[in-house]
Amino acid sequence: MEALKKLAGVKAAEYVTDGMVVGLGTGSTAYYFVEELGRRVNEEGLSIIGVTTSSQTTKQAESLGIPLKSVDDIDVIDITVDGSDEVDPNFNGIKGGGGALLMEKIVATPTQEYIWVVDDSKLVDQLGAFKLPVEVVQYGADRLFRHFEKKGYKPSYREQDGKRFVTDMKNYIIDLDLGKIDDPIALGKELKAMVGVVEHGLFNGMVNKVIVAGQDGVKVLEA
Ligand code: A5P
Repeated sequence: MEALKKLAGVKAAEYVTDGMVVGLGTGSTAYYFVEELGRRVNEEGLSIIGVTTSSQTTKQAESLGIPLKSVDDIDVIDITVDGSDEVDPNFNGIKGGGGALLMEKIVATPTQEYIWVVDDSKLVDQLGAFKLPVEVVQYGADRLFRHFEKKGYKPSYREQDGKRFVTDMKNYIIDLDLGKIDDPIALGKELKAMVGVVEHGLFNGMVNKVIVAGQDGVKVLEA
């Protein structure tokens, strides 16, 4: 599995050229993309500016000497490469397994070429087997939680070390165990309209390319 993730991550780095502003994703697959970019910066003199999607990726990029800017200081991101937890045939996806969905969506939005790197286990016919993360402000979170329960969304708080997980943006994550999502677009709109929900992990129709690594090698799906 690690080998497949690495294959996809390294392949994605081929799309990066000199002078680009590059969104750096989060997670165990995007890790290999960032690592390869670091190698190209150091060994090939590739000149880029990175914009990170989590404190975890900031640490990695800094350790590799990749120059960084804040998303607030750039207008357009040329390319962003990130992982995904599920991708359906309509190029809708679930992200946020690593808890970075809000920053990931903020970086994805001004991105011209948005690429996901996945192993082929992430391709699904229908979204929802992976629990859908919803990032909520701490104040009033239990009210939202109860609302999700009433709707039958089977919520659970994301935890770390026995405590509620707090995101880089200081929010909680409530994971919804939906089983299957019949209409990701409608669900995305419903969640977005709830007061206290900051962002949800449905990334509907945002991605331009999905780089998929499987036992037979790498293929690139164009949206
Ligand atoms: C981080 O919050 C996520 O969106 C990740 O990009 C996603 O969970 C994929 O992670 P892996 O590549 O580690 O499976």
